[in-house]
Amino acid sequence: MSAQPPTIPLLTPHKMGKFNLSHRVVLAPLTRMRSYNTVPQPHAILYYSQRTSEGGLLIAEASGVSDTAQGFPDCPGLWTREQVEAWKPIVDAVHAKGGVFFCQIWHAGRVSNSGFQPNGQAPISCTDKPLTPQLLANGVDVAQYTPPRRLRTDEIPQIVNDFRLAARNAIEAGFDGVEIHGAHGYLIDQFMKDQVNDRTDEYGGSLENRCRFALEIVEAVVNEIGADKVGIRLSPFADYMESADSDPKALGLYMVKSLNKYGIQYCHVVEPRMKAVGDKIESPDSLLPMREAFKGTFIAAGGFDREDGNNAVAEGHADLIAYGRWFLANPDLPKRFELNAPLNKYNRDTFYISDPVVGYTDYPFLETTA
Ligand SMILES: Cc1cc2nc3c(=O)[nH]c(=O)nc-3n(C[C@H](O)[C@H](O)[C@H](O)COP(=O)(O)O)c2cc1C
Repeated sequence: MSAQPPTIPLLTPHKMGKFNLSHRVVLAPLTRMRSYNTVPQPHAILYYSQRTSEGGLLIAEASGVSDTAQGFPDCPGLWTREQVEAWKPIVDAVHAKGGVFFCQIWHAGRVSNSGFQPNGQAPISCTDKPLTPQLLANGVDVAQYTPPRRLRTDEIPQIVNDFRLAARNAIEAGFDGVEIHGAHGYLIDQFMKDQVNDRTDEYGGSLENRCRFALEIVEAVVNEIGADKVGIRLSPFADYMESADSDPKALGLYMVKSLNKYGIQYCHVVEPRMKAVGDKIESPDSLLPMREAFKGTFIAAGGFDREDGNNAVAEGHADLIAYGRWFLANPDLPKRFELNAPLNKYNRDTFYISDPVVGYTDYPFLETTA
């Protein structure tokens, strides 16, 4: 009989409300652009089920809350009957393997162009400040954005309502909950960050006003599906898509303290070292003050490997660690961490291609030896 290796912190259980997670290695939300015409496809059944482990938490890719929410080709949605029906077998497959499955609900705001919008209209935002063209992940193509149209104050409740309906649809599709996408320079983040939000109504100016839209969405979603089914993702320190804040510490703390009032299940925060997309930098900032102020489960993401994920859990910096690129390329990531096995390398060139297999479901599992 061989001795059992000591359990590493990442593989210890964590109780997240009613969910008994068997380990702390979370699948981060990953846009894969393979949901043709905004409808999730059967190939996603295999993709998500490959990444499911008994008692593991998975967060599905950003899914649009309405026909104005999209900003990239072939991202899934949650506003039509067809989309809801198409999610069901995917969610069922994750549940069949014992996974806990939340869906990220998203509005791109000004990170869009008229080609993705109904009737070719301008994207909506908190502002009419345009976003400068951005280099895409392949390092070659440049995305062009249409100058956004500033939402009128009286239009904002409709967008809040879209998040509420999308959350209801997610639950109808079978998801265990939703993650409100408040990160990465998309609509909610555009409202929160003072370098974007230039409004003079009750949704702009003070920290309280800039966070009002996010918190109204949280409240509406909590009232619709219950606080135990709600998480949120935030990236106060990031400046993706020209969405920066002059005082990210204050923003992060204000948000987590406000979230406590709603008793949501988790807060998922992107590490300060991920200031720019995909690049890890040295940062003097820490998520610890946010972690200490938040009463629910705290998930950290961004640039983690096995070693610093273990350290973050052991030192109490986070309850759970979300892995993006490593989980994309290693469907059996928790198993590999358990065995300290080598990892498949990820291939950026296939992150966002529309192939239903290549770079999607063809990353190999560890060879199993009898
Ligand atoms: C291909 C790809 C797609 C992504 N899509 C999303 C997304 O839909 N929603 C989101 O909040 N973050 C998204 N991210 C960010 C990841 O969730 C994660 O925060 C980031 O990759 C950093 O974590 P990592 O160092 O473990 O990869 C994406 C990242 C990649 C590489």
